[in-house]
Amino acid sequence: MKLTFNLTDIDNFDKKEYTSAITNYFNSKNVSHTWRSYYFNKHYGYRRMFAYMVKQFDNKNIVELGTDIGGGTLALSYNQTNNVYTYDNVIKHSRSLFDISTIENVTPYVLTSEGTKTAMGNVLEKADHANRVLTSDVIFFDVDPHSGEHEDEMFYYLNENNYKGIVLWDDTNGQLKKWFSDKCKEISEKYPNIRVYDLLKYSWIEGTALMCFGDQEIILN
Ligand SMILES: C[S@@+](CC[C@H](N)C(=O)[O-])C[C@H]1O[C@@H](n2cnc3c(N)ncnc32)[C@H](O)[C@@H]1O
Repeated sequence: MKLTFNLTDIDNFDKKEYTSAITNYFNSKNVSHTWRSYYFNKHYGYRRMFAYMVKQFDNKNIVELGTDIGGGTLALSYNQTNNVYTYDNVIKHSRSLFDISTIENVTPYVLTSEGTKTAMGNVLEKADHANRVLTSDVIFFDVDPHSGEHEDEMFYYLNENNYKGIVLWDDTNGQLKKWFSDKCKEISEKYPNIRVYDLLKYSWIEGTALMCFGDQEIILN
């Protein structure tokens, strides 16, 4: 897979295509104004970047960890040829404002954390879901709290199980700033197979980082 990130292109994509496409979509689904304003809030920077990114590949499997009310999910599903599997550990009541299960290429799962051994055990202790994570092409990891515990569990799990896709980590310029800088150092010392790209400039203020576990080509300009 080859991905290019260019800020002018993202701006043009947003102005010429994405804002109007998504507004038309909201109109066609009678989406509430509360949910629309949530979608275009401070997180919009990574949402438009994701929509721009997913247009660069077809027929891939994307896993989102941390659905919340589905802002990331909607952006990741913009290219309808891809399948998006999104996971949360609780149902969000606010989801009644916009039901992500109405998006054709999205399959949402709510898997409780009750009784699991680890922070991400709700997904990783279940063979079919763990396998979906490991065989995915792209993962967006956005699980609260961004303490590094969930992120570390996922990072080592992917590495130990020979994951070959791409992971996008949310909040790497916010709550995960220290985790991200420690992880970059650790990767440079121990994991030559992983390449890291900071997407802060293309994304939102709290940051997004991309890690390639396989032989993907990433062009930042
Ligand atoms: C920051 S929100 C996700 C935001 C969303 N990705 C977006 O772009 O709008 C974090 C979510 O992670 C969920 N979460 C926490 N622990 C989890 C776990 N073990 N598995 C899946 N989701 C989890 C929380 O319930 C919360 O909805």
